[in-house]
Amino acid sequence: ELAGLDLRAEIDRLRKERNAVILAHYYQDPVIQDLADFVGDSLDLSRKAAATDAEVIAFCGVRFMAEVAKILSPQKTVVLPDMAAGCSLEDSCPPDQFARFRAQHPDHIALSYINCSAAVKALSDIIVTSSSAEKIISQLPRDQKIIFGPDRHLGAYLNRVTGRGMLLWPGACIVHEAFSETELLKLKAQHPDAPVAAHPECPGHIVEHADHVGSTSSILSFALASPATTIIVATEPHIIHQMQKAAPHKEFIGAPGADGNCNCNMCPYMALNTLEKLYLSLRDLTPRIEIGEDMRLKALKPLERMLEMSG
Ligand code: 13P
Ligand code: SF4
Repeated sequence: ELAGLDLRAEIDRLRKERNAVILAHYYQDPVIQDLADFVGDSLDLSRKAAATDAEVIAFCGVRFMAEVAKILSPQKTVVLPDMAAGCSLEDSCPPDQFARFRAQHPDHIALSYINCSAAVKALSDIIVTSSSAEKIISQLPRDQKIIFGPDRHLGAYLNRVTGRGMLLWPGACIVHEAFSETELLKLKAQHPDAPVAAHPECPGHIVEHADHVGSTSSILSFALASPATTIIVATEPHIIHQMQKAAPHKEFIGAPGADGNCNCNMCPYMALNTLEKLYLSLRDLTPRIEIGEDMRLKALKPLERMLEMSG
């Protein structure tokens, strides 16, 4: 049915017709990044979703990100090209189990990484992203007891840099856990002058070799600002597209998995969104994100605190 269609032109036509904005995460296919109205990290994308006056948000990212857009902008139609675009961190934190964890620590507040379901957000006091977590934690009293979920690697990293002792939920991202320390050390030996930029979802044995640790946006800024001509990037490799576009003379190398290349570090959930599915979602305004009003209001509170506290 789609054969012969110029999908880019059709998406452009529908974007205008529907008064839609296309938001994309850095882990999306370059074709999608290039036609999006805005590309960013989770915090940037939630700010855009809250501020847009478009009637429709076509969210090219994973489901929890599109849910955040809907929670912040309930009057807008939010479509996700493939509703199966989940996240292993979200899957590692079932809401009923998280509710029990919370109940076991009644004197703690719950700080949750934005990579979780709306139901887990509704059980949380403050949401953080990797770009805002340190700033938010620094505003909490030193003796404030905190539980943090779902990412234990981000949580351990935050405990190290802030000196806190947050209790950690044992979740992890399958993509960032796939980097191999041995292969990374081999690569560093081949490129001794290349700095390493890593996402804090990487386990400690990867982060400890990094010259810069931060969100996707901050990894991008670091890579572009660095005087080095070769940079090793320890996060999902589709972000390299933006680096290569902005600095074509530099070499950006995706950190390797156990097989010695970065192909195993692609996010399988992000990859479910394709140009075809984006076209169909704009044409049919489905699959649509819907969240019950009770749940939405509960999840909105900690998201609003995130936006306030991240400045
Ligand atoms: P960022 O907020 O750094 O874009 O992270 C999103 C994500 O899913 C990382 O795996
Ligand atoms: Fe989730 Fe990991 Fe994919 Fe990010 S890279 S969306 S944390 S599975």
